[in-house]
Amino acid sequence: MAVSDALRVLQGKAPFVPELAIVLGSGLGALADSAEARAGRAIPFTDLPGFPAPTVAGHGGRVVFCEFEGRKVLLQAGRFHFYEGHPMPLVVAPMRLYGRLGVRAVLLTNAAGALNPAFGVGDLMALTDHINLFGTNPLIGPNVEPGPRFPDMTAVYDPAFRNQLKACAQGLGQTLREGVYLGLTGPSYETPAEIRAFRTLGADAVGMSTVPEAIVARHEGLRVAGISCLCNMAAGILPQALTHQEVLAAGAAAAGRFEALVRAFVRTLP
Ligand code: HPA
Repeated sequence: MAVSDALRVLQGKAPFVPELAIVLGSGLGALADSAEARAGRAIPFTDLPGFPAPTVAGHGGRVVFCEFEGRKVLLQAGRFHFYEGHPMPLVVAPMRLYGRLGVRAVLLTNAAGALNPAFGVGDLMALTDHINLFGTNPLIGPNVEPGPRFPDMTAVYDPAFRNQLKACAQGLGQTLREGVYLGLTGPSYETPAEIRAFRTLGADAVGMSTVPEAIVARHEGLRVAGISCLCNMAAGILPQALTHQEVLAAGAAAAGRFEALVRAFVRTLP
């Protein structure tokens, strides 16, 4: 897909260049319905040429430009998952748009399953790194200039942002886990054997998003922060099956803590 048409429309409607874009994951979209967001400017994805409507329950499908905690922020409710059958260029198109709009940083949030047995359902985890098991890379194809052909991925998740998240959590009296997010396509959840294998690979959480976006955000030169809401223990860790309803319910239960942490993060942006 050509991002340029969508960019022209977005530039025409954007009231300002946001300091930060926040991608709200499954079950974490309530911020896009906050009073600040309702006072902001919402643009449905379907207004942007080449962007379809998201299909998954719990995903809204719009960007909202708003003043949030005194800062200029873009909230993205809903995202395009690879498992929906969307081509990878669409999955990462929002990151291209934000980069070209002049946004300097993105906070990627998601619902994930916990592999680390020390973590629990409802915990929030700051991403320290990721493992890409999508079986593809969003940068395959002609290089999108001016990003480098072989971008460095040594510190995808900005260490200063991570320290800031830790300080925010501490100030709120929250426990914030830290760990490695392993991303794969889904939509089937993992088998217990896969989860055992991923633990030996060093993963703390597993999910179906975020990794392609983080790679492209870095390619665009954006600073990246990531937060997972650990909505279930990964397959085989507990003697029970996994359901999307369980994931959404755990997200809803963690929503208050998630919102407080995101608000503190925005408030304390450098
Ligand atoms: N696996 C993959 N994706 C997920 C999970 C999981 O256990 N929970 C929420 N998203």
